[in-house]
Amino acid sequence: MVSVAVLGAAGGIGQPLSLLLKLNTSVTKLHLYDIVNVPGVAADISHVATNSEVKSFLGPKQLADAVTGIDLAVIPAGVPRKPGMTRDDLFKINAGIVKTLVEAIAENSPRAFIAVISNPVNSTVPIAAEVLKAKGVFDPRRLFGVTTLDVVRASRFVRDLRSNVDAASLRVPVVGGHSGTTIVPLVSLASSPVELSESEIKELTNRIQFGGDEVVKAKDGAGSATLSMAYAGARFADSLIRGIKGESVVEPSFIALAADPAGAEEIRKLGAGDLEFFAVPVELSDKGVSRIVSLGAEPSAFEREAIAVAAEALSANITTGVNFAKGA
Ligand code: NAI
Repeated sequence: MVSVAVLGAAGGIGQPLSLLLKLNTSVTKLHLYDIVNVPGVAADISHVATNSEVKSFLGPKQLADAVTGIDLAVIPAGVPRKPGMTRDDLFKINAGIVKTLVEAIAENSPRAFIAVISNPVNSTVPIAAEVLKAKGVFDPRRLFGVTTLDVVRASRFVRDLRSNVDAASLRVPVVGGHSGTTIVPLVSLASSPVELSESEIKELTNRIQFGGDEVVKAKDGAGSATLSMAYAGARFADSLIRGIKGESVVEPSFIALAADPAGAEEIRKLGAGDLEFFAVPVELSDKGVSRIVSLGAEPSAFEREAIAVAAEALSANITTGVNFAKGA
């Protein structure tokens, strides 16, 4: 019995994500919320022959009901990038949207797990944390920035270089944040060894960091990644749900490192320093983050340098989010 709300359900990500969640047999209730078009999306998805109940919630007056009685809120609400825009350019609009949505969750389902997709994740997750702290309900183990698309791209792009790799099972830990050089794929620590030259690793890292731009450019003004993001969002939600049900599942996610202070020591020493938030591989359970999973070995010198670069940019992104939430 898992109740999930998708906030921003009528959007480019929201629609296919809601469809994939309707196919997830662990989801028993699906609340779809948006400020436009959501009754049609919900009516359409509700005809899919799985047992979950789908309900539509339209506009701010129905927001409280949309997030009442839910176990997990997935948030793809907001505006996406157009060519030439960075994820930080989205900040002004999406910051306010995420703040409003998380306030409603804090007031109506304070124990719900929250998975933030809306960009810039490096700043919207700190905003969500501040909102939850202000409401007195912040549990760092229950708040996630969804970075799964970076992980998905890493596996797929390695496969583009080595056709003997299975893209579906290869896991590349991706740490740091979720924009440009804050995205740090640790290819040297992939779940099975991948033999790549130094120049291939550099190009691969750059492609994973800026993979979103390939989609923004190809869509030519019609938005950013939606279908691959819906797949990634549904995979993260499914991992969390399986964790809640007692399976041991590991996914990287952008979290407050306070979720597991002892487990965070390794990544702090590697370059995260005293940052409050960082993407790390986490084991999921009914508490949310049950622990930060050790990387198992030292990243390469190239990767350690990339972590240092990421940490510097992340620090500014986090501060931007915290200041916004505090009205500073
Ligand atoms: P979209 O514009 O197609 O859909 C956004 C939806 O949010 C629309 O249906 C809109 O009506 C809704 N919305 C706007 N204000 C709202 C509010 N106050 N409350 C509820 N819903 C509201 O955009 P798309 O392509 O679905 O992207 C959504 C977000 O996801 C963007 O911020 C984008 O940058 C981000 N994104 C994140 C990725 C990640 O890896 N975390 C990857 C790709 C996109």
